[in-house]
Amino acid sequence: MANALHLENITMQFGGVVSVNNLTLDVPEGKIIALIGPNGAGKTTAFNCITGVYQPTNGLIEFMGKPMVRNHPTGKDAKNYKGENADRYVKDPVLAPTPDRITGLGIARTFQNIRLWKSMTVFENVLTAKHQRASQNVFSATFRGNLAEENRMREETMDLLTEQGLDAYKDELAVSLPYGLQRRLEIARALATKPSLLLLDEPAAGMNPQETAELADFVKEIREKYDLTVFLIEHHMDLVMNISDYIYVIDFGSEIAQGRPEEVQSNKRVIEAYLGVTEEEEE
Ligand SMILES: Nc1ncnc2c1ncn2[C@@H]1O[C@H](COP(=O)(O)OP(=O)(O)OP(=O)(O)O)[C@@H](O)[C@H]1O
Ligand SMILES: [Mg+2]
Repeated sequence: MANALHLENITMQFGGVVSVNNLTLDVPEGKIIALIGPNGAGKTTAFNCITGVYQPTNGLIEFMGKPMVRNHPTGKDAKNYKGENADRYVKDPVLAPTPDRITGLGIARTFQNIRLWKSMTVFENVLTAKHQRASQNVFSATFRGNLAEENRMREETMDLLTEQGLDAYKDELAVSLPYGLQRRLEIARALATKPSLLLLDEPAAGMNPQETAELADFVKEIREKYDLTVFLIEHHMDLVMNISDYIYVIDFGSEIAQGRPEEVQSNKRVIEAYLGVTEEEEE
């Protein structure tokens, strides 16, 4: 099975703080892979490195078998570098595509703290995402003059909203939706860019058990329907264990375990670092 995404020795250091430490992982095509770990473990930072929000201090990220992001510490960063493999990528050119470019390659994400275009309607949020992707694409660079193309995008937008149960809200302002529906709108907007890889950062945050169970089914459905690979950060362990093919666990930026759900669930380090803490907190 080919990898949709491959991270190799990824380190993200902010000043003296190493938030992601020498992280290596694979997200095979068509799978649902989870990244879990306690608060502050570095999960969102890893997503930010993949999506071009941050340029990692060191390491390589391949997308669909091709180098997409690559860096090594230089200057002051090299002096202060606390990570590993500082010399491993010095001979290779630095690669640092912008978030837009990465979206254009076929990677979409949702955010831990919902980020919708607040003053736009539900419909406009999804349509605008479609336009952004279209303008990345040379083939349809002239889409503005192309009524058929515009109509197609509007139809696809409506289909996505219907699929998410959001069609009845299409003319409402995005911010006026209840929280659970805003999360769904964010997924619809991510899908609007026609990704092959979807990154979900705590999609079930703030959802009740019923909504969380529905989300699990929904993620599996869209994976089939859109031929997606899914990389998921989530604190709801029932959701993670239910839908993940494989799980990576990080703590203080470093991997502490990896394996299939049943393996990770019974891993002593994981229980100590993460599951144990969560259970205490939930009591
Ligand atoms: N831009 C930044 N500058 C400095 N430190 C940062 C920056 N972004 C993240 N960090 C630090 O990196 C560490 C990891 O944060 P991150 O948000 O990736 O954790 P997380 O695993 O997503 O946690 P949570 O489960 O709470 O969302 C934290 O200590 C955080 O303060
Ligand atoms: Mg986070």
